[in-house]
Amino acid sequence: MSKIPPHIIDEIMQTSRIEEVIGEFVNLKRAGSNLKGLSPFTDEKTPSFVVSPAKQIFKCFSTSKGGTVVSFLMEKEHYSYPEALRWLADKYGIQIPEEAPATAEQLAAISERESLYIINEFAKDHFFKNLHETEEGKAIALSYFEERGFRKDIIEKFQLGYCLNTGDDLTKAALGKGYKLEYLEKVGLVKSKEERQFDFFRGRVMFPIQSVTGRVLGFGGRTLFTDKKIAKYFNSPESIIYNKSEILYGLFYSKGDIIKYDNCFLCEGYTDVISMYQAGIQNVVSSSGTSLTKEQIKLIRRYTQNITILYDGDAAGIKASFRGIDLILEEGMNVKVVLFPEGEDPDSYSKKATSSELELYIKDHTQDFISFKADILLKGGETDPIKKAELIRDVVQSVALIPDQITRSVYIQSIANQFDISEQIVSNELIKFRKNTVAKQLQEPEIAALPVDKPEATTYLATTGNQEETTHFNEYDLIRIMVRYGTRIIHVDQQNEEGKSLKVETTVLELIHHELDKDELTFSNQLYGKIYSLLIEGLNKNELYSPSYLKRMEDQSIVVFVTDIESQDQELSAKWFSKYNIVTRSEGDRMNELVMNAIYSFKSAKIEEKIIFIRKQLEKADELEDTELMDLLAEQMAYEKIKIIFAEKLGRIILR
Ligand code: CTP
Ligand code: MN
Repeated sequence: MSKIPPHIIDEIMQTSRIEEVIGEFVNLKRAGSNLKGLSPFTDEKTPSFVVSPAKQIFKCFSTSKGGTVVSFLMEKEHYSYPEALRWLADKYGIQIPEEAPATAEQLAAISERESLYIINEFAKDHFFKNLHETEEGKAIALSYFEERGFRKDIIEKFQLGYCLNTGDDLTKAALGKGYKLEYLEKVGLVKSKEERQFDFFRGRVMFPIQSVTGRVLGFGGRTLFTDKKIAKYFNSPESIIYNKSEILYGLFYSKGDIIKYDNCFLCEGYTDVISMYQAGIQNVVSSSGTSLTKEQIKLIRRYTQNITILYDGDAAGIKASFRGIDLILEEGMNVKVVLFPEGEDPDSYSKKATSSELELYIKDHTQDFISFKADILLKGGETDPIKKAELIRDVVQSVALIPDQITRSVYIQSIANQFDISEQIVSNELIKFRKNTVAKQLQEPEIAALPVDKPEATTYLATTGNQEETTHFNEYDLIRIMVRYGTRIIHVDQQNEEGKSLKVETTVLELIHHELDKDELTFSNQLYGKIYSLLIEGLNKNELYSPSYLKRMEDQSIVVFVTDIESQDQELSAKWFSKYNIVTRSEGDRMNELVMNAIYSFKSAKIEEKIIFIRKQLEKADELEDTELMDLLAEQMAYEKIKIIFAEKLGRIILR
């Protein structure tokens, strides 16, 4: 992959809207001038994830992650820096000039993960071409899809394809392209048998399975034979990019509508998703190939609190929906159920009905889980008291899983009404089950208590008496000022060679550099040191790096640092202000004071460190030679003197 030219990077960064991009992953709601939502990095129930459209940054107060739109994509999608940029360029229609195709060496250098994605992307395109351009594909596979009633635009939208039945068509093409056999096997596209390679999915129509952002993670391949001995579907094996319990088929296409309608339809298979989508019901996903998992539910929860299960009315479908209901309730979400007539799934039903009939069927058959369970379990035996009691217990057991007490009470009322018994009895029954679940939860280790919403350095203000921490804070503050205000013009008094005081105009960055350089001081914190060298490097090239320049760097530790500073400034969390009072809004107005204070505090801290170091050596005075001792004492005195000068300059008495 070729390098992206800097002016294109600028264009991408300027065009991208962080709120739009993150909005594809997180259901964001307005909160003042910011947007708020549930963190996609952690499993939280109260939103602590904030996006600032004005600053184009995000901050997650649960995990302390933060940064630009690029940092977000790198964090969330495990993209590399250029990949995140490419994704954005693609989204916003920005052309990146391409150089010649990658050489074999360049290919090898791309990380394994990247290689697997690239291979899947290649295979998807190859299967797609097979479907539309080969005789076999058109005759067997395309006609199959057409027979099923899949529209052309839908086949294209879902990038359906076909793996030729010749045996090693894909294998040959992929090896010819220079892809490693090892990787081809890892993603499960190629199998080896006695030194011979063949296509795992040969003779199957292909359903690419995409991530939330549209990357091809794996495939489902359906056989075209009716032979019962052949598995109807083959799915990609688990790999570092394909973890089936955390993937929902169709989510890439449906997330927008899931947010829009605040509901997610959940079905069983690939074809259900596609048919529903074709019928215009586009807030739909499926947990293809696995029974619904906790992780998948959490994935949905980023977009909505409401799930409607659409399953086949056969015994297996009902059993699956029972399990699904409990899992969804346990995650604190709302669940409804639509059962299709036995032997029908959303796909087959939609073939028989028009779009509006399908919509109507869903509308008319949506049940809350209590009446759903009641209908199934009673099946006309309402008069049998034992059966009824069992059913009530069964339903109560599901309600007991709901974490929120108020929601539980609502359901208790509903059960009491539907089964015509007293609320008290339902409530008593529930308490029994609740005890069980509470006990069970307690056994699990507590993960992440309360969100911690402090920036790294704030600790140093709150604590006193620890020199290491004081130094760290002063380093933090100085580097913060350099990053935040480095490009500002400032007027200071400087003495010329004859000792005459002159008013000098300079930039904040140059002043600080001058002051530190004079005393040969540097940063001991690695990150700050790195940023400092970077700024000075720029200075040597007569370039002053602004925060927005720094935010475009590849090194995300720098990007995160800069955005962190900006998020404090931005009042992303009002708590930061009231609790730690680091930045005041008028900071920019008293630049001289701010900068000089930071410089002398920094220097004082460094001096203090030196004094402490000398004191430590003096403690072992009896081990020292007399001359060494004298030197140390002289040094100590010199530092103490400077300390006083700094104290005067600071205009305040040094604490302690
Ligand atoms: N499935 C699977 N392996 C199988 C059968 C099913 O992984 N041997 C998964 C597939 O993801 C499939 C889903 O379970 O989409 C539902 O199965 P089924 O209802 O049998 O398949 P449909 O999607 O309805 O496919 P079709 O209509 O073509 O029979
Ligand atoms: Mn089907």
